[in-house]
Amino acid sequence: MMRKQIAAANWKMNLTLQQADQLIDELLDIPHDLKDYQEAVFGVPFPFLFNIKNKLAGKKNSFVAAQNCSDKNAGAYTGEVSAAMLKSIAVDYVIIGHSERREYFNESHATLADKINICFETGLKPIFCCGEPLAIREAETQNSFVETQLTESLFHLNAQQLTGFVIAYEPIWAIGTGKTASNEQAQEMHAHIRSIMAGQYGAVVADSISILYGGSVKANNAKAIFCQPDVDGGLIGGASLVATEFAAIINSLK
Ligand code: 13P
Repeated sequence: MMRKQIAAANWKMNLTLQQADQLIDELLDIPHDLKDYQEAVFGVPFPFLFNIKNKLAGKKNSFVAAQNCSDKNAGAYTGEVSAAMLKSIAVDYVIIGHSERREYFNESHATLADKINICFETGLKPIFCCGEPLAIREAETQNSFVETQLTESLFHLNAQQLTGFVIAYEPIWAIGTGKTASNEQAQEMHAHIRSIMAGQYGAVVADSISILYGGSVKANNAKAIFCQPDVDGGLIGGASLVATEFAAIINSLK
């Protein structure tokens, strides 16, 4: 089975409902072709999920993602949004452990493991983010740093849960900086991630995992990054807020 190639938008905390509607309408007007093994995923703020989901109805291989969910099932957690709520409005994916959530909201490896468990219990597909800060890259210890992120938050899962799983590698120094990892740096880390998963779960499971690259992906560099053998698409911030850019990125999937 060919693993999925995914172009995933992460709108982060941007846009109003009106702007969100306009963006998705513009995007849907631009021809973009998704093959059977390709997906477009829209990671949009909670208040827009329902609307964007409806706009994507009937569009081939096009899905919505929440950018986070609670690590609790339900109850007195003012301001939180549960996985069950997301499932009830037919959300498909949830971005888990984005570096901005790890950094600004103190999400620990253990919290992320809990969130992933709740996603599986609820029938939502996690997109698990990992990636090192600049100081770690400069110290050349990024491989062990990312390995710890994977082992601490994923290794309690079984092989069936990880078959077809989605991981996004986003080096923090490349996020919003205009400085992407080089094609070689991306490929090297993606191969490393796949080998870590293969070591624990075997090559068949590891080969089924889609590993997306994130960090300053634009229309003009997407193709070169996506054509690396272990890069299965991207998680896109800034460029996903521009319809022409994101459509071109979707069309850059291999
Ligand atoms: P940019 O594409 O804006 O660098 O953001 C990447 C990212 O954080 C996607 O989750």
